[in-house]
Amino acid sequence: MPAEAGTFLRKGRTMSTSSHDAARSGSFKIGGDLDVNRLGFGAMRITGKGVWGPPADHDEAIRTLKRLPELGVNFIDTADSYGPDVSEWLIREALHPYPKGLTIATKGGLTRSGPDIWWPVGRPEYLLQQVHKSLRNLGVEQIELWQLHRIDPKVPADEQFDAIKSLLDQKLVRHAGLSEVSIADIEAASKFFDVATVQNRYNLVDRTSEDVLDYCTAQGIGFIPWFPLAAGDLAKPGSVLDAISGKYNATPGQIALAWILRRSPVMLPIPGTSKVAHLEQNVAAVDIILSDEDFSALDAEGRRLFQSAT
Ligand SMILES: NC(=O)c1ccc[n+]([C@@H]2O[C@H](COP(=O)([O-])OP(=O)(O)OC[C@H]3O[C@@H](n4cnc5c(N)ncnc54)[C@H](OP(=O)(O)O)[C@@H]3O)[C@@H](O)[C@H]2O)c1
Repeated sequence: MPAEAGTFLRKGRTMSTSSHDAARSGSFKIGGDLDVNRLGFGAMRITGKGVWGPPADHDEAIRTLKRLPELGVNFIDTADSYGPDVSEWLIREALHPYPKGLTIATKGGLTRSGPDIWWPVGRPEYLLQQVHKSLRNLGVEQIELWQLHRIDPKVPADEQFDAIKSLLDQKLVRHAGLSEVSIADIEAASKFFDVATVQNRYNLVDRTSEDVLDYCTAQGIGFIPWFPLAAGDLAKPGSVLDAISGKYNATPGQIALAWILRRSPVMLPIPGTSKVAHLEQNVAAVDIILSDEDFSALDAEGRRLFQSAT
């Protein structure tokens, strides 16, 4: 995919009825044609403890999901394994029939047998079954973005990539991506299908995938950083973000999101929350414009902390 395939542009405030508007994070065309506002939502946290079963507060989870379109968030990340199924069911319960322009991206390839237990299964027939289940769970005829949650080391990678090509050929999915992969994995998969997105763990203080991010930026591949708030640690006081957050009258989590959005035009952060108040706070981060000096200072400090921890 050429570098121009992903396009970055600022958009007006046409989609939101709120003073917070995710459209102000700019937009990105996934796979060159699927337009989303860059600040999205991660729907893993609307499930029970250990990403297992229903959420502790079902009504608040539904309120959080219903608030997304009002805040201009039109990109939701979920997976068949969140719950399992629970996250996809709740998205359907809260938002179906879906507002025009809402993209729900889901994933498959991880099985669940209990709280916090995740096992990869990449057999082609299993991946096909899970795509059919996600279509039914979400109530859609095509999944706009489907990602292989993990490459299963027990199954030849080519078989998994070929299965994804088949999902695209059958038009069960419109675009496909990968999760937790190296540059070599992306290049190998690209022989079978256009890799539209890569979803790897990444945040200010976790730079393991820096090379993959740079590769995605150069190729115009959407990069979806999971744990953008370091699973909540960067939203708490006491981190490297404290000094700068005071200067911007913002929370540390908002500075972490402002930094990550600025890090690359292909960056599509999906902070996860089960609470309306946290969602609103996260979306408000799109209005924080870090100065060049503050961006660079945070960047350097994040890299330093990462290197000293590894
Ligand atoms: N591809 C993969 O392998 C993979 C792995 C993990 C996650 N993901 C995806 O990535 C998304 C993001 O990752 P994540 O949810 O694990 O981590 P995250 O976004 O870094 O952090 C989420 C945590 O931060 C808390 N939080 C969020 N906003 C907050 C705020 N404004 N103030 C205080 N606390 C706040 C949430 O708790 P509250 O609910 O209390 O707000 C939650 O515990 C997931 O939802 C999921 O869609 C993908």
